[in-house]
Amino acid sequence: MILVTGGLGFIGSHTCTRLHESGYDYVIVDNLYNSDISVLDAIEKTTGARPKFYNADVCDPSALEVIFRENEIEGIIHFAGYKAVGESVALPLKYYRNNINSTLALCEAMDKFGAQSIVFSSSATVYGEKNPVPYKEDMPADSAANPYGRTKIVCENILRDYQAANPDKKVTLLRYFNPIGAHPGGLLGEDPAGIPDNLFPYILRVAAGKLERLNVFGNDYDTPDGTGVRDYIHIMDLARAHTAALEHLKKSGGFNIYNVGTGKGTSVLEIVKAMSETIGRPLEYVFAPRRPGDIATSYANVDKAREVLGFTAEYGIEKMCEDGWNYARKHFNL
Ligand code: UFG
Repeated sequence: MILVTGGLGFIGSHTCTRLHESGYDYVIVDNLYNSDISVLDAIEKTTGARPKFYNADVCDPSALEVIFRENEIEGIIHFAGYKAVGESVALPLKYYRNNINSTLALCEAMDKFGAQSIVFSSSATVYGEKNPVPYKEDMPADSAANPYGRTKIVCENILRDYQAANPDKKVTLLRYFNPIGAHPGGLLGEDPAGIPDNLFPYILRVAAGKLERLNVFGNDYDTPDGTGVRDYIHIMDLARAHTAALEHLKKSGGFNIYNVGTGKGTSVLEIVKAMSETIGRPLEYVFAPRRPGDIATSYANVDKAREVLGFTAEYGIEKMCEDGWNYARKHFNL
């Protein structure tokens, strides 16, 4: 049995559908802080099976105790966490407390109840601003630009030290690049509360007529068209990276780190163009000042995931836009 923390969030919910498809038994724990209980129904409709669900906080050891006593947890995929970069600058303690306590509580539960493995949601943000692209797993990963990113660095180090002290435990860090798109079934996707911080959900709202136009943050970066370049990966590809990581952990062990991206950079304007083609009309945008803390370019070297996990992303930007738009049309009743 796999415990999925934050299983009703964007990445968690899509990974649950993939776990189901690959024949894993899993149970979800989520405190609905940044997710909605309707996602549980959407997972059920998408997979044909209703997952077992605990509405609980992963930071709470007594809640974890109940879950571990009631289920034979062998492995954990730990998605739960706060992730808003801007808020983390204003409220760093909230971020450190939540993101670190949840990881500590899970390691302690692994110790107490004998679960063997954990796959942790890390982020490309740990590569900071000094490393050259493409980012490689063995580059220094100790200088994120904001408290959110630094909680990821701290959790990476907690898990590294935990595994070193407990060689029978198996730890994999997945450093996600920029997951976008949606499940092709159209019932699962990303629709954050409030005005979206991230590019893709914002674009979907503009496409859906819920927001007037996209603000493109900066057109004077040192990139081919002056706008920021990121390594966007289809959420279903990212979901599959988790089952690839679990499969590999079954045969191996130790402490592992993999980038999960496509290895290709795409600019904001290229995404705007691709989405305009998907919706059949120009997506409205204006240029706006750079967003503080943004870097010009981020993309992954994906050799290690390919060579060790046998994982390669399949889908391109067009499919990400198509599936994202399919979700938005259903979600917004268009
Ligand atoms: N952008 C816009 N307008 C918007 C939103 C974003 O132009 O309204 C641009 C950004 O400037 C950037 C690109 O779109 O060039 C992508 O921005 P996102 O906010 O979608 O993603 P980020 O790359 O900033 O951040 C993401 C995750 C973080 C993670 C980081 C790791 O949201 O959690 O990747 O690199 F830390």
